[in-house]
Amino acid sequence: MNILCVGDVVGSSGCKFLRNLLPGIKQEYSVDVCIVNGENAADGNGLTLSAAQHMFDSGADVITGGNHIFRRQELYEMLDSSPTLLRPANYPSSAPGNGVCIIDRGSYQVTIINLIGVVYMEPLACPFDTLDILINQAGNPKFCIVDFHAEATAEKKALAYHADGRISALFGTHTHVQTADEQILPGGTGFITDAGMTGPLNSVLGIRPEQAIAKMHGKLPVRFSTADGPCMLNAVVITLSDMTGKTTSIKRLIIK
Ligand SMILES: [Fe+2]
Ligand SMILES: [Fe+2]
Repeated sequence: MNILCVGDVVGSSGCKFLRNLLPGIKQEYSVDVCIVNGENAADGNGLTLSAAQHMFDSGADVITGGNHIFRRQELYEMLDSSPTLLRPANYPSSAPGNGVCIIDRGSYQVTIINLIGVVYMEPLACPFDTLDILINQAGNPKFCIVDFHAEATAEKKALAYHADGRISALFGTHTHVQTADEQILPGGTGFITDAGMTGPLNSVLGIRPEQAIAKMHGKLPVRFSTADGPCMLNAVVITLSDMTGKTTSIKRLIIK
C-alpha cells in the first residue's frame, strides 16, 4: 500500500500547484491514500472553506492541520462536519473537529492521526500520552499514519521512537523545510522529521521575503502574504507491507 503525505500547502499558488501535480503523482506512485497538510492553504494564513474544498477536489483524501487550523472561524463548521478534515487531536476537546479519521477502502482501513508538538509551541495536552490513548481507542490498527505538526526535531523523532512498531509511519510537518532524514525505525515505523512545503519557491517558508525580513530584522508586527512566482511540491511516499502494516520504504519527493 502506498501513502502520499504532502507537506504544508501554502496559499492559493500552493493549492493550484497541488491541483496540477497531484493526479499525476497519485498515478505514478499508485497512491492508495493521500494526506495533505493544509493549515496554511489560505492566502495570508490558516485554512478557508474554499481552500479545503479545492484540496479535496484535487485528490486529497485527508487534510491535516496544525497551529493555524483555527485561524478562520468559517472553517469551524466544516471541522465538525467533515470527518476527513483533521485538527491536532491534543487540542482541548471543546475545540471544533477532531484529530483522528479512518479511510475505509473495504478490504482495508487506514487510521490517520494528527497531533501537534508542545516544545516551542502552545502548552497543549501531551502528544505522547494522546497518541497512546488514540492507538488504544482505535484498537491497535494495522495501518496507522501520524502527521505530527511540530517545531522541535527531537520531539518529532522521540514521538516516532515512542510509537515505533505500533504505528505504520509518522511524518512531521510545520517547519516548511523538508528534512533528508527519512528512515525506517527498528520496529518498522517509517519516519521523516518534516515533509516540507508545497508553495512558492522564492519565499521565506511561503511568505514574501521582504515581509519576513521586516519581521525578523525590524522586529515590528508585519502582515504576511503569500509570495509570488514558481512553486515546489514537497512530499513523501510511504510504502506499507500489506501483511504487517509496517513501512517497507519511504521516499522523499521534491518537484519544482
Ligand atoms: Fe505550516
Ligand atoms: Fe504550523
